[in-house]
Amino acid sequence: MSRPQRLTILGSTGTIGVNTLDVVARHPERYQVLALTANAYVERMAEQCRAFRPRYAVMLDADAAERLRLALREDDLPTEVLAGVEALERVASLPEVDAVMAAIVGSAGMRPTLAAARAGKRVLLANKETLVMAGRLFMDAVHEHKALLLPIDSEHNAIFQAMPSGYAGDLDRGGVSRILLTASGGPFRTTPLAQLAAVTPEQACAHPNWVMGRKISVDSASMMNKGLEVIEAHWLFNAPAERIEVVIHPQSVIHSLVSYIDGSVIAQLGNPDMRTPIAYALAYPERITAGVEPLDLAKIAILQFERPDLQRFPCLRLAFDALKQGGSASAILNAANEIAVAAFLEQRLRFDQIPVLVESVLAASDCREAAGIDELLQIDAAARAAAELHIARLA
Ligand SMILES: NC(=O)c1ccc[n+]([C@@H]2O[C@H](COP(=O)([O-])OP(=O)(O)OC[C@H]3O[C@@H](n4cnc5c(N)ncnc54)[C@H](OP(=O)(O)O)[C@@H]3O)[C@@H](O)[C@H]2O)c1
Repeated sequence: MSRPQRLTILGSTGTIGVNTLDVVARHPERYQVLALTANAYVERMAEQCRAFRPRYAVMLDADAAERLRLALREDDLPTEVLAGVEALERVASLPEVDAVMAAIVGSAGMRPTLAAARAGKRVLLANKETLVMAGRLFMDAVHEHKALLLPIDSEHNAIFQAMPSGYAGDLDRGGVSRILLTASGGPFRTTPLAQLAAVTPEQACAHPNWVMGRKISVDSASMMNKGLEVIEAHWLFNAPAERIEVVIHPQSVIHSLVSYIDGSVIAQLGNPDMRTPIAYALAYPERITAGVEPLDLAKIAILQFERPDLQRFPCLRLAFDALKQGGSASAILNAANEIAVAAFLEQRLRFDQIPVLVESVLAASDCREAAGIDELLQIDAAARAAAELHIARLA
């Protein structure tokens, strides 16, 4: 039998990280956890270290790393505790690592994810922000260093499964006419528009079908998440904005579809459980069990579809516009949105002000293409500062 695949899990204490470890624990003969990383959630990281005995545990936050060392001092573990961004990059690119799950939330995930691509790893990509911010740079790194990129977002994983086998980035050659991204519509799909100004973070985070981190839950409620996924699909599948369509499907059973020129439409279905795409990407091209309930179509009985209402979901329009504009528009959209969502979660901004803020930051920014990662980080920082200023003015 071949040796187990060695894994680094970036963002192991988050929703995707925990689901990844759940799948990994079902297949101890196939996977070995080499490194786990988090920001500051010491208690969960300590539990994960005891259960998976990684060689490295990285906390972004130095104080958290010190607390983790203290928490683990009585345990007889082979784990070295490290801190900081450089350590995240290091464990993402260690020569002994085979695969990296990129599941840090937000733009903080970009540098370590890029490091994994540059080291030619098998990259399991949950951190969509990397592609939104640095799509060209990241895809260039993937191709240049022969990394294997496997999407974790359930929609992109579905598209990956429904694409022609061996798809190499040419829609026409594959006979693909369009990519159809499904969206649940989130918790406010039918909320009267006038009430959106008063919705609370708790209401926004109560997703009807998926259990997710708070940032992506708010993005799902505003449909910015679907907008970011449109941009992600553009880079992953080399698809222009005109050939990506979003369809609302409240049951979240069809995870996405690929439409072919002969009229065929191929969909991937499953219960809304992230362990399915995670298991698919871990084992690709094989299949492994994931602990996911089999789909009971008769029980579901009805699958509904509708077109997104761009008046209700202006963030979706803003993301399509940013993709069409090109340059660094998507990175600016992402940065302004991260600040807006954080402010909403802290109750410094109303939910309906999120798109207003993103649009005004975009309108006031120079969206030229960044020459490299440093310039991109400067553009990101400037957009964040502009967003904070805007929020301060609104207060
Ligand atoms: N959840 C889903 O169902 C889902 C589906 C598709 C795609 N995704 C994507 O997957 C990514 C992770 O989402 P999630 O829902 O798992 O998020 P989450 O539950 O909020 O977890 C985020 C993880 O990132 C770590 N982290 C946060 N800020 C960090 C920083 N500045 N530097 C380093 N690590 C940091 C967190 O550590 P602490 O715990 O210490 O804060 C945690 O381990 C996102 O990009 C999201 O868009 C998620």
